[in-house]
Amino acid sequence: MNDDYQYDNQTVKGFIVSSIFWGVAGILIGLWISVQLWKPEWNVPPFFTYGRLRVVHTNGLTFGLGVGAIFGISYYIVMRLAKTPLLFPKLARFHLYLFNIAIALAAVSLFAGMNQSLEYAELEWPLDIGVVILWVIFAVNIFGTIIRRKEEQMYISLWYIIATVVAVAILYIVNNLSVPSGLFKSYSVFAGVNSANVQWWYGHNAVGFVFTTPILAMFYYFLPKSTGIPIFSHRLSIISFWSLVFAYLWTGAHHLVYTPLPDWIQTLAIVFTVFLIAPSWGSVVNGFYTAGADWPKAQANYLTKFFILGITFYGLQTVQGPTQGLRVVSQLIHYTDWVPGHVHMGTMGWVTMTVAASIYYVIPKICKTDIYSIGIANTHFYLVLIGQLIFSITMWITGIQQGALSKAVNPDGSLKYAMVEIIAKNYPYWQMRTLGGVIFTIGMLFFIYNIYMTIRKGKALAVSNA
Ligand code: HEM
Ligand code: HEM
Repeated sequence: MNDDYQYDNQTVKGFIVSSIFWGVAGILIGLWISVQLWKPEWNVPPFFTYGRLRVVHTNGLTFGLGVGAIFGISYYIVMRLAKTPLLFPKLARFHLYLFNIAIALAAVSLFAGMNQSLEYAELEWPLDIGVVILWVIFAVNIFGTIIRRKEEQMYISLWYIIATVVAVAILYIVNNLSVPSGLFKSYSVFAGVNSANVQWWYGHNAVGFVFTTPILAMFYYFLPKSTGIPIFSHRLSIISFWSLVFAYLWTGAHHLVYTPLPDWIQTLAIVFTVFLIAPSWGSVVNGFYTAGADWPKAQANYLTKFFILGITFYGLQTVQGPTQGLRVVSQLIHYTDWVPGHVHMGTMGWVTMTVAASIYYVIPKICKTDIYSIGIANTHFYLVLIGQLIFSITMWITGIQQGALSKAVNPDGSLKYAMVEIIAKNYPYWQMRTLGGVIFTIGMLFFIYNIYMTIRKGKALAVSNA
């Protein structure tokens, strides 16, 4: 049995390449919509308007880049931590093909305007069924491989992957329960305030179980692997895991502060939201102490900066997030650009940095070579860091400005600013965001070139060794 079969590296590589492909498409569309906000002529009806492109951006990156990387890298991690091949390697290959077909159909349907109007759950019911099939295949392979494992101990990354598989399945199915009225149209079984509550229970946990738990699984696996320094505390990692998964599921209503949702539900969500700082920082502290245990050794590895900056953004994000849930803060920043600022510190900072660093580790390993260029990886790192900072900081400034101006009143109680005046003041910030996005995108192009050249290098070595 050759190594490739045993560890099914080709499927892992396929998922990584697919995730990068959908990621680039999603990022370019992100740039496009960022321009549309200050240059409306860039809307091309009917398919390429802001309303349609925005959902292609969020779905392309959440499901294409995020979930694609999660599938591939989870397979990589589980096989190694279980010390056993995937239970059904052929099914995993089918999973890869089906994943790409589903993402392509999702993009086409969203361009065509088919939309359930639930954020992050926009896909219509036939595609929802496809997503459930994809997830069942993933679950069968993950659980099957873990059950057959040859290593008795369950490292923390496995727990985070299990939580991802279970939670996403429940959340996705419940929030997508609907009654079809045709092939391309359906109506949710929930209505009014119930619908909003279920939607944000799902929406916030999409953040928790797509942009947090699987990314923490990668962080806990690849930081020790790439530095050679064992994780600082297994006990802390387990305590933060259980408290994180317990608390996350109660917090969704913090998206609905000051809405008709009963007050007590909002308050319950806010309490759990504030509590979330603790388990989140459990992982942040664990990461810092791991690298700090032998800083010269950690520093010598080019991936450490990705992981440490990534977890630092996660740390900032998980202080900012709980603050946003508080009523006094929410009334200022909700419905403003502050929120996309928060979102992109998490997605461009924490998620994309950690995923990219994991890919930098995995690709050379499975191509049996070294990374093509550490210099290019460093350039990539600084460009995405600068791009993300420009993006987030400008959105925070303009968000506070929007919140403050829309609340300003004259002595007679009338509003001081008309909506259009507030919007006009956003233009310079929106232009800065596009600049940040361009810098980030150039950084990602350096990353792709480096990965492409590493795969080529691996192939050339394999030929010369044959
Ligand atoms: C302790 C952890 C976190 C908490 C308590 C939290 C809290 C919040 C709150 C209260 C909002 C709503 C803001 C508003 O609209 O008024 C929000 C939005 C959001 N957060 Fe976080 N956040 C956390 C971590 C993260 C992380 C790690 C990410 C990863 C990328 C993230 C991504 C998002 C996204 C995508 C939204 C926008 C949702 C939407 O309106 O479409 N958050 N968060
Ligand atoms: C060049 C990089 C990027 C640019 C220019 C960009 C641009 C944008 C813009 C303009 C919006 C709409 C904001 C609004 O409605 O006011 C948005 C939303 C969003 N983007 Fe990005 N984006 C980029 C990268 C990413 C990445 C890498 C991810 C995920 C991995 C991501 C995930 C999201 C999400 C989840 C939202 C919805 C936020 C919300 O509803 O509050 N973006 N992006």
